[in-house]
Amino acid sequence: MKAADRTFFANFLVVLAALVGIAIFVGVAAGLINSAHEEEVGIDPRAAEVIGERIAPVGKVAVGEPPAEAAADVAAAPAEPRSGEEIANGVCMGCHGAGIAGAPKMGDNAAWAGLWAAGLDATVSNAINGKGGMPPRGGSDATDEEMRAAVVYMFKQAGLE
Ligand code: HEC
Repeated sequence: MKAADRTFFANFLVVLAALVGIAIFVGVAAGLINSAHEEEVGIDPRAAEVIGERIAPVGKVAVGEPPAEAAADVAAAPAEPRSGEEIANGVCMGCHGAGIAGAPKMGDNAAWAGLWAAGLDATVSNAINGKGGMPPRGGSDATDEEMRAAVVYMFKQAGLE
């Protein structure tokens, strides 16, 4: 090896050692700062819970028997039909209360008289299937029976019965 090479090699080793030293120092310092930071800020258990919910998978595969809760839901499904008043005030009022998009307004005799003349069956059928700006069943999950009761209730509100 030439003298120049040896000098270069010696310098090179010094530089290399210095770089390794810096890398180790930075790594250790980062670890220390991070652990100190975690202790100081910590993660609020409530926040952790919320974060857990947000990053939870959208769906889960259920294997085996449904849990008691879900079984109860299924059993409760064919519940008592809701009354016409309940459906009308809960679902239909959204549009029919103020007469949105040309919906015959609740309690407006003139708006409902023509429908009364057309007949209950035809009117109920339009309400079930949807018409113009009215989505089928007003966008609800009301049954045929409940839709009929709601229409009857709305006719009554308009003084028609
Ligand atoms: C998203 C708004 C909206 C909701 C919710 C809604 N309706 Fe309507 N409904 C309308 C509109 C708009 C019309 C007028 C449709 C037309 O004549 O073009 C209408 C028309 C009707 C008619 C007259 C149908 C015919 O023969 O012309 C009945 C009856 C009716 N709705 C019943 C209901 C009942 C019952 C509910 C609740 C279950 C309901 N609507 C919920 C918008 C709505």
